[in-house]
Amino acid sequence: MTEIHNVVVGVAGGIAAYKACHLVREFTEAGCSVRVVPTPNALEFVGAATFEALSGHPVDTGVFTRVDEVQHVRVGQEADLVVIAPATADVIARIAAGRADDLLTATVLVATCPVVLAPAMHTEMWNNPATQANVATLRSRGVTVLEPAHGRLTGKDTGPGRMLEAGQIAELTRTVAATGSMGRGLEGKRVLISAGGTQENIDPVRYIGNRSSGRQGYALAEVAAQRGAQVTIVAGAVDELPTPAGAEIVRVRSAREMQAAVNERARDADVIIMAAAVADYRPEREADSKLKKGIADDDLSTLQLVENPDILKGIVEKRKAGETQAVIVGFAAETDNPLEYGRAKLERKGADLLMVNSVAGGKVFGETRNQGWILGADGSTFEVEDGSKQVVAARILDAVEAFAGW
Ligand code: CTP
Repeated sequence: MTEIHNVVVGVAGGIAAYKACHLVREFTEAGCSVRVVPTPNALEFVGAATFEALSGHPVDTGVFTRVDEVQHVRVGQEADLVVIAPATADVIARIAAGRADDLLTATVLVATCPVVLAPAMHTEMWNNPATQANVATLRSRGVTVLEPAHGRLTGKDTGPGRMLEAGQIAELTRTVAATGSMGRGLEGKRVLISAGGTQENIDPVRYIGNRSSGRQGYALAEVAAQRGAQVTIVAGAVDELPTPAGAEIVRVRSAREMQAAVNERARDADVIIMAAAVADYRPEREADSKLKKGIADDDLSTLQLVENPDILKGIVEKRKAGETQAVIVGFAAETDNPLEYGRAKLERKGADLLMVNSVAGGKVFGETRNQGWILGADGSTFEVEDGSKQVVAARILDAVEAFAGW
């Protein structure tokens, strides 16, 4: 994994410039040395003093200050990572054209490290063929241009063009640094992901649930969407997590609701990833009113359970019946013998790939990191080293792309 020390945070002239302050904090708090390089227009929104105080370094916008230090060359050469947030339509156009008319664009021309742009602009500007052509040019040169979020823009309009939140940008940028490139291998593909835990009602106030946070499923959705996929998340109970850019979220509660939502969308999916922790059993009967203890016919102490449907197995059956062509990925969380049990589970379920992780001692649940192995139906085993759930997601999606030959 590439060690990131020197980070250049470029800031262009858009209202989202205020969010760049949080991005600077994300990197300084992670121990990085951050140089903020705003465009002159960015300073119309946030003052140089703010960026200097946050980064602990001087802030300049042009190549004619501190000329003796040849700043654009030094800052660009020393950078391990350049991230520009917000990247306006104008700065995207100037970088695509190879211009060097301010310190930021000159720095980008010098830099040989990964460059990540987080666009922020009105929907019309984002959709404009000129911007899209510039974005395509930059992507073809290996620059990561992140998909913007859909949401509220300045003024009253909503749509794609809103800048991702600072935490999302930082995490995706680290993923690019760790994996080399975000890639666009899922352009136009439909990816269906189940995430979180199901909850099986006992009565109006109680349920059987589990400790899944939904983080790995959401990270998969985030990285798949950044690789160009059209993503739907079928989400059970999840922690409070930001919506991945452009993803549709379908909320469900029980295993049976999750199964109905997944089955309904299986035919159109190119990839189905079952990252959800599905409850194996549910109460045979859901009481209409709250169960009381100590009452003769109370069944709270002797809950009768019935088995839930196996959603993953059902999808595999559907594919056998020609009802979907999707690549199917399962998950397994095991406390003992993860490789042996994982391999047996992959065979039992009939999936193409299975990500198995060891959860001895409750490890992984609710955490931001993960590790394990990706097992292939062809007998392959790929070790996934400890990394953020986004980095692990990138490895899983690499395996999906390789399996499908995309
Ligand atoms: N799964 C599913 N439907 C279920 C249970 C599990 O689709 N009713 C999926 C999970 O989303 C996961 C994979 O199957 O992708 C393995 O889940 P796991 O709970 O480990 O499998 P089980 O078959 O329940 O095995 P175990 O006896 O180890 O719990």
